[in-house]
Amino acid sequence: MLTPDATGYTRAAALLGEGQLVAFPTETVYGLGGDARNDMAVARIFEAKGRPRFNPLIVHVPSAKVARTYVDWTDEADRLASAFWPGPMTLVLPLKPDSDLSPLVTADLPTLAIRVPEHPVAKSLLEAFGGPVAAPSANPSGKISPTSAAHVSAGLSGRIAGILDGGTCGVGLESTILGLVDGPTLLRPGGLPQEAVEAALGAPIAHHQSGDPLTAPGQMTSHYAPGAPMRLNVTKIRAGESLLGFGPVEARLNLSRAGDLTEAAANLFGHLHAMDALKPEVIAVSPIPDHGLGRAINDRLRRAAAPRT
Ligand code: TXA
Ligand code: MG
Repeated sequence: MLTPDATGYTRAAALLGEGQLVAFPTETVYGLGGDARNDMAVARIFEAKGRPRFNPLIVHVPSAKVARTYVDWTDEADRLASAFWPGPMTLVLPLKPDSDLSPLVTADLPTLAIRVPEHPVAKSLLEAFGGPVAAPSANPSGKISPTSAAHVSAGLSGRIAGILDGGTCGVGLESTILGLVDGPTLLRPGGLPQEAVEAALGAPIAHHQSGDPLTAPGQMTSHYAPGAPMRLNVTKIRAGESLLGFGPVEARLNLSRAGDLTEAAANLFGHLHAMDALKPEVIAVSPIPDHGLGRAINDRLRRAAAPRT
């Protein structure tokens, strides 16, 4: 465990420089960081997570200015970056051919997913390291994403060099991923609501057609899986079920008693981890409104409830 102070950042940056892995908080979830230019480091990320190599990684950089050195920039990218970076948005754009990134990062795709995080610890780490950091969510592949250093440690301890402990993540859902190659496309709903993206662009955005492996290779149907099976949109629980509630309902744990989607997003993965630890027979979940952050919450819940692969 590394403390996010001058000593901690120096140590974390040195570990990244040696090709080691350091988990760090972002405003969305904890990331498992490695030097995006170093083949060994990137290979270690796949190894530590048990992640299939065809599933590319997001590269984290300190500014849109640095992002532009890696990808072919567009007017739409400019508008979105000015509106939402730093923040919970990832842009997928054509990778510049002469980049210094490891080809493992993009799984040999011609595009790169890139993001400028807002969390102060992520920013300080990027500054101390001075290079691009490849970082998937810091969980074993297919499991619940981590929103605290303790979640990271529970899932990956012994497989990574360090964890910068920056407390609990504020947004709690991974970044919204927007493809900008063939017109703006929502590749993954996330911490930035679709409505906000459409307002900034002044136009509706297309949705990724699920099942197209090339546009979003990591959108596995089963993901975020807790140990117990799950039942969604539950208004009346059955025997053996523990309720993960939303709104003013009697529940084992509640995402937001007040029915607030921002609060529910921030609590989602933490509550799934906690429900998992209680080892219920079945986790039942209250209905969540399907607008704003609710869309991303429902996306994660559907994957968590999907038949395990
Ligand atoms: O909030 C987040 O995005 C967090 C923090 C750490 O930044 N990261 C994260 O990474 O969620 P990960 O690896 O768990 O999810 C990244 C997703 C995967 O589904 C991957 O397939 C997709 O992004 N992706 C990466 N590169 C892509 C590309 N070139 N084209 C399409 N999808 C891509
Ligand atoms: Mg992930």
